[in-house]
Amino acid sequence: MPEIDVALLGKTFGEQRALDDVSFTVGDGELFTLLGPSGCGKSTTLMSIAGFQTPDEGRIAVGGEQFFDASRRLNVAAERRNLGIVFQSYAVWPHMTVFDNLAFPLKVRKLSRKDVGTRVREVLELVDLAPYEQRYPHQLSGGQQQRVALGRALVYSPSVLLLDEPFSNLDAKLRERARSWVKDLQHTLGLTTIFVTHDQDEALSMSDRVLVMNGGVVQQVGTPEDVYRRPVNRFVAEFVGRVNLITGMVARYENSTAIVDAGEAVRGLRVHVEHTLLPHASLTVAVRPESLVVEPANAATYNGTNTISARVTSIAFLGDHYQYELDAGGLALTAQSPKQVDSADVKVHIPPDACAVVE
Ligand SMILES: Nc1ncnc2c1ncn2[C@@H]1O[C@H](COP(=O)(O)OP(=O)(O)O)[C@@H](O)[C@H]1O
Ligand SMILES: [Mg+2]
Repeated sequence: MPEIDVALLGKTFGEQRALDDVSFTVGDGELFTLLGPSGCGKSTTLMSIAGFQTPDEGRIAVGGEQFFDASRRLNVAAERRNLGIVFQSYAVWPHMTVFDNLAFPLKVRKLSRKDVGTRVREVLELVDLAPYEQRYPHQLSGGQQQRVALGRALVYSPSVLLLDEPFSNLDAKLRERARSWVKDLQHTLGLTTIFVTHDQDEALSMSDRVLVMNGGVVQQVGTPEDVYRRPVNRFVAEFVGRVNLITGMVARYENSTAIVDAGEAVRGLRVHVEHTLLPHASLTVAVRPESLVVEPANAATYNGTNTISARVTSIAFLGDHYQYELDAGGLALTAQSPKQVDSADVKVHIPPDACAVVE
């Protein structure tokens, strides 16, 4: 049984369709990420699950319990859903010590003093804050405050953790550490988690599965590898990393391979496809910059299939790789490679299995 089942959620604010038939399921213990640009409906989805937002249509169930069903006018109160939530602005209570920030939700639940103490100290260990229990938030770093917010969400052993851009107030280095730290913690506790972010690196590096959203509509759900290597449409291809889009026409189709012509420069490009394509169908092929192989024009290798001539228009050194901007007879391509190529005239190999056909 999926731990979280969201079906056909719809929500309109005035004229704005914030959610349109949003459906997905999250398995037990899974770290599931909602990824998309600002305003695409991520928070509205998460807040609907939490019970702080009421959708116009759809159903939400967690652990087999129906929390929301628009058609039956069923709406379980937020405080009865027992979910751990960390918001974007992770406002910890400034006038309370770390200990009291975590103790408060338990006192509200009328636990004994002794049980509160035991549980708070257990969670402080978990979030690496044991030495800081008597400090006030202003005596902590941003990363530590963020862990207080997380500790507060975990303290009453929620069945599900909902995290809405929890790292957005942290600087780049801390964010990266916070990612692996939260992922480890989630894994250790086996907590079913929905994570919201607009940052594709964050989504790819942390998630078991990613849901890519745009304009309130689900675009694709899949593993990080799926959405990166097999994007279903242009939006996903472009949002989940840099991509080259090559638009052309199917010249022939044989044995799961489409032979594509895309202008003068790209003729007979072989692309692996998952379903039959008819000749003359137009299509767009997505290929990641690091999949392109760049060699000097006079190199002995790559003289056959899927290799085109290009000129290098610029090179940038980015530490672990070079980025090449290329002009292939009018088609602009971006390639990334750890290898330095010193020639202005190059050939570019496009591996057939690195090509994904997008809408
Ligand atoms: N309370 C609200 N009133 C009016 N419009 C809202 C409200 N909350 C969200 N919206 C609109 O709904 C859309 C989705 O918002 P949101 O879910 O917050 O996006 P995200 O979290 O992906 O940035 C946006 O266009 C936003 O302006
Ligand atoms: Mg948001």
